[in-house]
Amino acid sequence: MAAVGRTKVVVALPLTRALLDQMADYDLAMVPTGGSDETVLAAALADADGVLVSSNVPVGRGVIVGAPGLRVISTMSVGVDHIDLDAAREHGVTVTITPVLSDAVADLTIALMTMLSRRIPDGMRAVADGGWKVPLGGDLAAKTLLLVGFGRIGQAVATRALAAGMRVRYVDSRVGLPAMAGVTGGGTLDDELGDADFVSLHVDLNARTRNLMSRRQFTSMKRTAFFVNTSRGGVVDQAALTWALTEGAISGAGLDVLQDEPPPPDEPLLKAPNVIIVPHIGSATEETRNAMAQCAVDNLRKVLGGQKTPFEVTAS
Ligand code: DGY
Repeated sequence: MAAVGRTKVVVALPLTRALLDQMADYDLAMVPTGGSDETVLAAALADADGVLVSSNVPVGRGVIVGAPGLRVISTMSVGVDHIDLDAAREHGVTVTITPVLSDAVADLTIALMTMLSRRIPDGMRAVADGGWKVPLGGDLAAKTLLLVGFGRIGQAVATRALAAGMRVRYVDSRVGLPAMAGVTGGGTLDDELGDADFVSLHVDLNARTRNLMSRRQFTSMKRTAFFVNTSRGGVVDQAALTWALTEGAISGAGLDVLQDEPPPPDEPLLKAPNVIIVPHIGSATEETRNAMAQCAVDNLRKVLGGQKTPFEVTAS
């Protein structure tokens, strides 16, 4: 229960003491993190003004409706698919994000592309098995990278890919995206898939992008092409991707995200050929996570203080 006149903030993510101290003027209620049980969060939010969450804390309609005093949901993530945005808008709750992770995610994207093209897992396996067999890979230079989504992260990947000598194209239907020398866009996904040597996803998960990559899209790709996903697992029809890898419709996939995280042990994709899967580590560097946590606290304080933040989610 918040003390009379005090602002109550629910903290549903791990924060350092220093960050908690920055919110000493609020009544803080800590709730366990990482679970998918919304009832604990709902109970804590019933009389709260603000909440700090991360991408593995779902904030559904019921939670928002049951929190009449809620003014801000500050998520320490750039993705907002765990939050019912319509409910937030209808109830006047501001949702803020922490888009300070582009470099970390872009680094990982290039790392996955390089691991696939240079067959690094094969080389590691050869050495671990006591051998020294050299797997012959392919260059990034002069290959075509198709970025699906050209927002902050897509642009950060483009910068790195250009430096590696790649040809970079993108598909993104938004207007007013920045021009980048050496990068071309404007086509549709269907037009572009067949020309790409690498296809990398950098879109939000929403009703328009769910299962954007399905069997037809994988069939349109070159059999020699690699697929990388550091956005959200739901953008990909996982059964279709498993099929594409198993049947050789594409050459390999590098994935930071899956439909279910962690995946069930019997998830067929785990056993598919030439797939590299890492556990959603896109933003997982010390520097980036610290910056995200600070940004989340700053966003929350700004909204509760009646100020604007550039990181409010606007209608899409
Ligand atoms: C994000 O911020 O959305 C990253 O995927 C981490 O969850």
